[in-house]
Amino acid sequence: MLRPPYTSYDRLHVYHLDTTALPAIDDPDLIGIWIEDKTAVLFFHRAKESLVTHLCESHRCSLIYQAELDYRDWEAGQVISSFSVAGVTVAPVWETGGADIRLDPGVIFGSGFHPTTRACLETLVNCLKTPEMHIDTVLDLGTGTGLLSIAAARFGAAKVIAVDNNPLACEVARANCRLNMVEDRVEVRQMDLREEPPPARGCSLVIANLYRGLLEQLFQSPAFWEADLYIVSGFLQSMEAGLLAELPTDRVRFLGRQRNERWCIWTLANRRMTG
Ligand SMILES: C[S@@+](CC[C@H](N)C(=O)[O-])C[C@H]1O[C@@H](n2cnc3c(N)ncnc32)[C@H](O)[C@@H]1O
Repeated sequence: MLRPPYTSYDRLHVYHLDTTALPAIDDPDLIGIWIEDKTAVLFFHRAKESLVTHLCESHRCSLIYQAELDYRDWEAGQVISSFSVAGVTVAPVWETGGADIRLDPGVIFGSGFHPTTRACLETLVNCLKTPEMHIDTVLDLGTGTGLLSIAAARFGAAKVIAVDNNPLACEVARANCRLNMVEDRVEVRQMDLREEPPPARGCSLVIANLYRGLLEQLFQSPAFWEADLYIVSGFLQSMEAGLLAELPTDRVRFLGRQRNERWCIWTLANRRMTG
């Protein structure tokens, strides 16, 4: 996350350590610490060789790799700037001017520049604008920066549960909710969907922009199919047939099936909704 004196991201200095047992790092250049698979990836605005060497010595851990790159390269070559989808304008915090949603994406997925994020945002906003869909409670599985949860809260949902297994994503999503003044309506929960069932019961809408393997696992879980409506994405056209075979068509039916670049976005309704 950006903290003074930083107002944007330029270079990223990345250190990947083979431990998660790290002390609190009070360094003004720290962007965030990404914990994954018993390792920690530290992101800084500036080079931190001596700090990292000291950490490795004092905590008996090793550096797996280090890298320095442009923020733009981290974002797959994209310059993150404002954009509009379905009449909603999203702007990064470093841009001035009015926007419906302001976001500090940090190093987390969900700046809005991925085709699946944009397509999910567009479908979500269109659903929220359709009163017959009665969208009240939303579950955002794999929230990333929190963008979709913020949009849900901003454009009609009374309650949103935003889930991610990445602690840094949860921290970034909470900060973005505060930035957009929806923290009273969005509850960010750190949980691993590979290990815990999704809390979909009582939800009007579940958004799941994840990846194929996790979607297949969720499709097998009766708890996943407790909600009324679904926006599902995060898989390529080449994977669509495999996922279709896993879909419990006795429980859900298609409302929409779109493609954005090579990515798929499904909108599904629980059959109990449609009689
Ligand atoms: C493709 S990104 C989507 C981010 C955002 N919702 C968007 O649409 O741009 C998937 C997110 O799911 C999270 N994720 C991956 N595996 C997960 C798991 N097992 N449990 C919970 N969240 C997970 C990742 O950390 C990441 O933030």
